[in-house]
Amino acid sequence: MRTLVLERRLRRFREVLERRQKDLVVFVDDVKNEHNFSAILRTCDAVGVLRVYYYYEGKKDPKINEGITIGAHRWLFIERVYSKEELLGRFKEEGFQIVATWLGEESVNYREVDYTKPTLVVVGNELKGVSEECLKFADVRIKIPMMGMVQSLNVSVATGVILYEAQKQRWEKGLYSKPTLSEEEIEKILHLWAYEKVIEDRKR
Ligand SMILES: C[S@@+](CC[C@H](N)C(=O)[O-])C[C@H]1O[C@@H](n2cnc3c(N)ncnc32)[C@H](O)[C@@H]1O
Repeated sequence: MRTLVLERRLRRFREVLERRQKDLVVFVDDVKNEHNFSAILRTCDAVGVLRVYYYYEGKKDPKINEGITIGAHRWLFIERVYSKEELLGRFKEEGFQIVATWLGEESVNYREVDYTKPTLVVVGNELKGVSEECLKFADVRIKIPMMGMVQSLNVSVATGVILYEAQKQRWEKGLYSKPTLSEEEIEKILHLWAYEKVIEDRKR
């Protein structure tokens, strides 16, 4: 494989990729604040999420604040989607459970969900929450219990709480001990990170 990084860096890339959970996906439903969006991305990297999709009701792409991600976003596949139905329908067909955050009475405690199954977690807009289009696809609605005066958490904090429950369950089931990506997929991403990205960065 052609590489433009040091052996140690390449080893680190591989270790990270061997821990990436290709069947734990996050969908960010119109989160407006760049700090929130960026903090979500940083947590996704930390937990081993590989793919993050987002819907955004703005003309331009949302800004990623590098002071907040400290580069974590560079190691994720982040894709803007224009049809929530198309995305969620596709994941459902692939056998993913759709887990939507929702602060309603009928939602279950977030710890009751089995996140070791292929899972797509939906988090929502700071004011409106997760949209009706997404809720329609949800196999389960979850909430993090709130014991204080305010009714909700900041969206990036909520994402962290949920993803770390997923991380705990997956860790206990040994899903971080063997790669979820195939060797072919790992090699392909390694080429991207250790070669193509380096060339791209040098051009900047
Ligand atoms: C500030 S909240 C949205 C509040 C909105 N008024 C509502 O009722 O959904 C923004 C996002 O953070 C996440 N969130 C915040 N608190 C949560 C909680 N207690 N349980 C689950 N998700 C939560 C959800 O993804 C939510 O869509």
